[in-house]
Amino acid sequence: MRVLILGGTREARDLAAALVDEPGVTVTTSLAGRVRDPALPAGETVIGGFGGVAGLRAFLRARGIEAVVDATHPFAATMSAHAVAACAPPGHGDDPAGALAGDPAGPGSVPLLQLTRPGWTPGPGDDWHRARDLPAAADRARALCPPGRGVFVTTGRRQLAPFATDRDRHYLIRAVDPPTDVLPPRHTVVLDRGPYTVDGETRLLRAHDVRVLVTKDSGGALTVAKLDAARTLGLPVVMVDRPAATGPVPPTWPDVAGVLAALRGLAAGGQAAPPA
Ligand SMILES: NC(=O)c1ccc[n+]([C@@H]2O[C@H](COP(=O)([O-])OP(=O)(O)OC[C@H]3O[C@@H](n4cnc5c(N)ncnc54)[C@H](OP(=O)(O)O)[C@@H]3O)[C@@H](O)[C@H]2O)c1
Repeated sequence: MRVLILGGTREARDLAAALVDEPGVTVTTSLAGRVRDPALPAGETVIGGFGGVAGLRAFLRARGIEAVVDATHPFAATMSAHAVAACAPPGHGDDPAGALAGDPAGPGSVPLLQLTRPGWTPGPGDDWHRARDLPAAADRARALCPPGRGVFVTTGRRQLAPFATDRDRHYLIRAVDPPTDVLPPRHTVVLDRGPYTVDGETRLLRAHDVRVLVTKDSGGALTVAKLDAARTLGLPVVMVDRPAATGPVPPTWPDVAGVLAALRGLAAGGQAAPPA
């Protein structure tokens, strides 16, 4: 079975590592190419995008892909919508809105499975403030952080403009690659891809006099230490909600083991039944 993983996450790499050892399976992982020096998965890698829904559909056909696993980051909503559209039966249009109207299991479709880690949930001692997007998060952070103090922004190197108009607070911005967006006048950029420890995050928050943490609800263990550190220091957290799906959501598993079992079921001629 030829499997395409839409990657860019730890889970995608773990799945690729498991699939290369699976008898009779050929695995290709695709990456958007946003990160300068990406952690490469096992198996074949293609980098740079497909050129929209039509490009992805052509790729699936040319490679004879028999199953697609969307293991992109929970905030990569465009890629996920493109996957739904491209895996739908032919004749349902080359744009997500048109294709989503089709029967996802009709003739000529490609089975699509989604691997999405669960979001984080607050526990005792957490002071979380939900924001629907980054502009709302920037407003909330300003309201929560006294002038002259620090805001720790861990939402990535893009879409930082909503923070840039604030002249009164210091922004500690952490990203894997240097930000390309306009930045607030008072800022420090830290380039780091983790993994992070609670001790390290606590030291960082203290060193920059941080009073508010801003994060996407990415979920997972790799970047959770900042939330533990914020709780320990009694700091509020502005949590940016995951984007809502704009169409049908494919069968979704929260972990690699579930997707592996579903792929084995598919290879044996069954259906990729979603978890109970
Ligand atoms: N968004 C985040 O916060 C975040 C965080 C960590 C990692 N990532 C990873 O970074 C990548 C880009 O994220 P994004 O939010 O910019 O995506 P996006 O907005 O959903 O997608 C924009 C375009 O990037 C290309 N693309 C995205 N993911 C791809 C993949 N896995 N393989 C091939 N092409 C891909 C596609 O280009 P074409 O239309 O040309 O095919 C897509 O239309 C994803 O792989 C994601 O898993 C994202």
